[in-house]
Amino acid sequence: MNEPNQPISDGSAGHVPVLFREVIEALRPSRGQVYVDLTAGRGGHAAEVARTIAPTGLPVLFDLDAGNLAYACERVARAGARTPIGVHGSFASVGRELDSRGLQADAVLADLGFASTQVDDPSRGLSFMREGPLDMRLDPSSGMTAAELLASASERDLADLVTRYGEEPLARRIAAKIVASRAVAPIKTTAQLADLVREAYGSRAHASRMHPATKTFQALRIAVNDEMGALDALLDSIQRAAQRTHDGRPSWLAPGARIAIIGFHSLEDRLVKQAFATMRKSGLASEILSGAVVATEAESAANPRARSAKLRAVMVDGPSKV
Ligand SMILES: C[S@@+](CC[C@H](N)C(=O)[O-])C[C@H]1O[C@@H](n2cnc3c(N)ncnc32)[C@H](O)[C@@H]1O
Repeated sequence: MNEPNQPISDGSAGHVPVLFREVIEALRPSRGQVYVDLTAGRGGHAAEVARTIAPTGLPVLFDLDAGNLAYACERVARAGARTPIGVHGSFASVGRELDSRGLQADAVLADLGFASTQVDDPSRGLSFMREGPLDMRLDPSSGMTAAELLASASERDLADLVTRYGEEPLARRIAAKIVASRAVAPIKTTAQLADLVREAYGSRAHASRMHPATKTFQALRIAVNDEMGALDALLDSIQRAAQRTHDGRPSWLAPGARIAIIGFHSLEDRLVKQAFATMRKSGLASEILSGAVVATEAESAANPRARSAKLRAVMVDGPSKV
């Protein structure tokens, strides 16, 4: 039997799942369970969980990116569990989607952010390292692109969002540069934006350990995809469902359901940490991991994406016996 130390190999996936063994240990999936992967991506985590819940278990996969979702569904279907249900859309709607199908999750994973396949594709505009259109939408079929946001937001709103989502100390200078530049010509490409940020940094660019555009690109991606709004809605849905489980009312979370969330920056991790702490304090959930689990040095060396990953997990308590 394949031990969960390594992802089931799929050389074409283009994305290495982070904290793989740690996620499987936290979720502890078993035969016949309903597994909800809120961010299916390339199906790395999901294929292993599906193998463990097979043949009677049911995987339910969500992704904003139709290409990733189709890839993950196909990969997971080969793992031997029931045919996966794929939901193209935001995980913010998980409660509605599960309730409408009468399903209760036993294990839930959210591996937040973007997949390597998305950042590596120049046409998605997610990387300052690759010249491409400034799109940044994880679901390219809906919503405003980063170029549209840069063209329409006020200087103040731009400075606010780069401060809030990028924690960028030079946000005001960067916003001023963007507004001066767009008055001359629209900012349409990743290279144009990266150059503008570098200009705003001036001589500070040499002293910066990371690329000067790192924080601005992160901030724009978070804003374009309303990532904090979606995470807030998800955590709210989890808390409300856990309360229903605790009260013995119908809920999309089964008693004993295990929930694991991986965040990649402090804003995400703070929200997850607070929500899980509130659930524990109000007796709705117990801790599975004490605090956040981070990648080993070996994993971080092999996969730079893992360096900023933080995994937190809780277990939903069953109805209280009064
Ligand atoms: C880090 S990847 C997941 C990788 C996956 N665990 C694997 O092993 O291949 C994150 C995925 O979540 C998706 N995503 C991001 N925000 C989302 C949201 N609000 N709802 C649904 N999917 C989302 C992205 O499109 C991306 O495919």
